[in-house]
Amino acid sequence: MKLFYAQASPFARKVLVTAHETGLAPRIELVATATSGPTAPELVAHNPLGKVPTLVTDEGESFYDSPVICEYLDTLHGGTRLFPGEGRARWQALRWQALGDGIMDAAVSLRYEQLRPEGEKSPAWQERQKGKILASARALEGEMAELAATPLGIGHIAIACALGYVDFRMPEIDWRQGNAGLADWIASFAARPSMAATAPRG
Ligand code: BEZ
Repeated sequence: MKLFYAQASPFARKVLVTAHETGLAPRIELVATATSGPTAPELVAHNPLGKVPTLVTDEGESFYDSPVICEYLDTLHGGTRLFPGEGRARWQALRWQALGDGIMDAAVSLRYEQLRPEGEKSPAWQERQKGKILASARALEGEMAELAATPLGIGHIAIACALGYVDFRMPEIDWRQGNAGLADWIASFAARPSMAATAPRG
């Protein structure tokens, strides 16, 4: 399999952490892909949206975006599933994944805003994105007991990659303030080999 990815993308990191946690990482060839400037034609050939992460199987089939890739990878191993098959456990994992992905959306939008020329930035819009990140951290703090007691799933991975990206690109956002339980959980999750092997760069 081939994965088009960018080292700084939290969505790509989510896929990479999933690959490490499921033992599939050695089966994936990584294709570093520029996300600024013209979109790589090789990527567009597999995903008309030209977005990373995109996974291409050995049979030439392509999968995107990160929830689809991660759930596909989860069918390829014999260990405990990161996507529970049914019941409340499944909906809980999917909701946590959506919350993590939503934090990534807000943070990546903020990143693009950071890169805009000074006169084109919108402070009100930046505050709105920051508000989403802080509100999500607050909500997660209220769910820490359940999150910490739940076996590893895609939601845990999404949340850890999302807040890792916030720390990487916008360390001035103090989501730890008032959220000590979440901060402790993230610190211990960050020590997993899958997280250490996929730290953002660039
Ligand atoms: C970044 O450089 O922050 C970035 C790159 C690709 C996707 C998302 C974010």
